[in-house]
Amino acid sequence: MNPLYFYPLLLVYALLLSLLYINSHLKRGTENRLLAEQRRYQRHLFKISKELSFIKEQGKLVLFVGDTVYQLMRVSWLLIYTVDSDGDVYRLARQLGKEARVKKIDLSFDAAAAEECAVLLPMNRSNRLIGFFMLGPKQDGSVFSDDDMSVLKIIADQTAVALENALYWEKEKQRIIRQEAVARAKSLDIMTGSLAHEIQNPLTGAMGNLEVLREMVNKYEMTQDDREVVEESFKYTLEPLHRVSKMVQVLNNYSKGYSVADFKVFNALDAVNDFKVLVQSKLKHADVQLTYEVDDDLPQVMGVPVWLQEALMNFVSNALHALRKTKDKRIVIRVLRHQRCVRLECEDNGQGIPADMLKEIFHPFVTTKSTSEGTGLGLSIVRRHIEAMGGDVWAESYGVGHGATFVVLLK
Ligand SMILES: Nc1ncnc2c1ncn2[C@@H]1O[C@H](COP(=O)(O)OP(=O)(O)O)[C@@H](O)[C@H]1O
Ligand SMILES: [Mg+2]
Repeated sequence: MNPLYFYPLLLVYALLLSLLYINSHLKRGTENRLLAEQRRYQRHLFKISKELSFIKEQGKLVLFVGDTVYQLMRVSWLLIYTVDSDGDVYRLARQLGKEARVKKIDLSFDAAAAEECAVLLPMNRSNRLIGFFMLGPKQDGSVFSDDDMSVLKIIADQTAVALENALYWEKEKQRIIRQEAVARAKSLDIMTGSLAHEIQNPLTGAMGNLEVLREMVNKYEMTQDDREVVEESFKYTLEPLHRVSKMVQVLNNYSKGYSVADFKVFNALDAVNDFKVLVQSKLKHADVQLTYEVDDDLPQVMGVPVWLQEALMNFVSNALHALRKTKDKRIVIRVLRHQRCVRLECEDNGQGIPADMLKEIFHPFVTTKSTSEGTGLGLSIVRRHIEAMGGDVWAESYGVGHGATFVVLLK
């Protein structure tokens, strides 16, 4: 064979071989990349499944899933919304990447916000939307592949299950805490009630006998000086006994039995509306302007509605006393939404409270009133009831002469 023919053939052959090699190399490279991507997804999915079964807190859950999806999908931004405990509002629970355009959206959220996101991923449980992801475009500008979408769907489904569990655990935890608080409050009340009963009986007898004795002694002839001494002795013996008797009465009234069954989910506004009716008679002869400020989208709270009314009644009674020397007497009651809580305020422009007394006044028997006016028990009972409902109560004041505000926060 002429070697002149042989060399071009060899060249073509070599070219063909190298093309085949390059092709298979490229194919393998692409396959490897796809495999690596798939393995990365598998690793993450495995990690997510494992972690989600352990995390029981909604906050931690959203934190973990948010970070994982953000890194896994390499998106420019990510938002996670979860439904609040009332089930009516979706709140931003996690935000990564660029500043969110929207902070709070309800079910009919504005289309512009959704328009900006590349993927809107719902989290459904038993036909209920319990949250959703909003993902921005990918950082490198590439589109979401079918694999991406399948992985996202799996993550959304698993998160929905975990989220539902977390919500359940949260409610269960609250229920147990309340149950324990009621049990504690109840046993304390039974003890207080029986103690009050034990004190009241002999006390009433002793006071009655002393009055009889007073009348009899007064019939005897004696010097004016002696009469004054006798009268003072009776006065200073009977006065503290009356005071003790009044305290025992208050304790007895508040130790009326209640049970877990009295705890219910209620709207604080209903309790306040009932209170409005009750307080009217109290304010009949007081020259006070009582106003209300109310938010209309209040979350439901758990507790005993009557306790809330009693708390407000205590605040108003105290405010009326503190307003005695004020000319333009004003009380404002506010019922506000504070994140997921209800915030109740009772503000007056009365004499105010010194800073070092703000905590003290919630202790039992702390009073600045005279024997006949106060027992010092009102606020301590309010605190016990509010805490049994899982809430907080405190007083705020800019000092003497600047009025006071009592705040109740119910979760
Ligand atoms: N609105 C108020 N303004 C000023 N002081 C207040 C106010 N509310 C309560 N206090 C103070 O807190 C004390 C304790 O109140 P409370 O526990 O209701 O007992 P009591 O009313 O029998 O004194 C009061 O004696 C008063 O000094
Ligand atoms: Mg009081």
